[in-house]
Amino acid sequence: MRPVVIAPSILSSDFANLASEAERMKQAGADWLHVDVMDGHFVPNLTIGAPVVKALRKVTELYLDCHLMISQPLRYVDDFLAAGADGITVHLESEDALEAGAKIRAGGARAGVSLKPGTPADAILDQLDAWDLVLVMTVEPGFGGQSYMADMADKIAAVRAAIGERPIDLEVDGGLNPETVVHAAKHGANAIVAGSAVFKAPDVAEAIRLLRQGAASATA
Ligand code: DX5
Ligand code: ZN
Repeated sequence: MRPVVIAPSILSSDFANLASEAERMKQAGADWLHVDVMDGHFVPNLTIGAPVVKALRKVTELYLDCHLMISQPLRYVDDFLAAGADGITVHLESEDALEAGAKIRAGGARAGVSLKPGTPADAILDQLDAWDLVLVMTVEPGFGGQSYMADMADKIAAVRAAIGERPIDLEVDGGLNPETVVHAAKHGANAIVAGSAVFKAPDVAEAIRLLRQGAASATA
């Protein structure tokens, strides 16, 4: 069975209380914290950067899974490494993605590559060994709270088939909840990002438990 990872996205958290939000996620059973970095250029939204990762690093031991939705990731990789990111994911559609990935690994973090919904799986299949994680977006990147795109199923399955036995995580991000997670995991996802489904849940621990149960039931 593949390891299941539940990664709440702090995009849906209370930004005025990030330390307690991180602690709340840890207590509720999260494996990673997903940090959505947007530059207002690669995507039509602006969020946070390396200084916030640095601040989080001081208050949590959770794995910091940084998702860079920015046009020029290579310019900022050093900042995220210095800030204490555990994993840094860049978009294949951004500039110099492969070079950024190599720099991430050289800096001691895990390198991830993300595909927007319109980018086919084929685009990365010949460079899988350059990556430790593949993130298949299940919404158009930019905003939380959108609906899961079930038509990403074939792409998720194609990436999973290509990964084979390699220790590469297959992450999904966008519209994941206790129902849609079963679909994504059935097609091969093992790392689950969820923003609104976790932070807006009345019982966060229960939401994480349900996500984990849904993902595990499909990957067993
Ligand atoms: C979207 C972000 C996601 C977002 C997910 O561009 O990459 O991580 O926070 O939010 P939900 O789970 O609400 O779709
Ligand atoms: Zn994300």
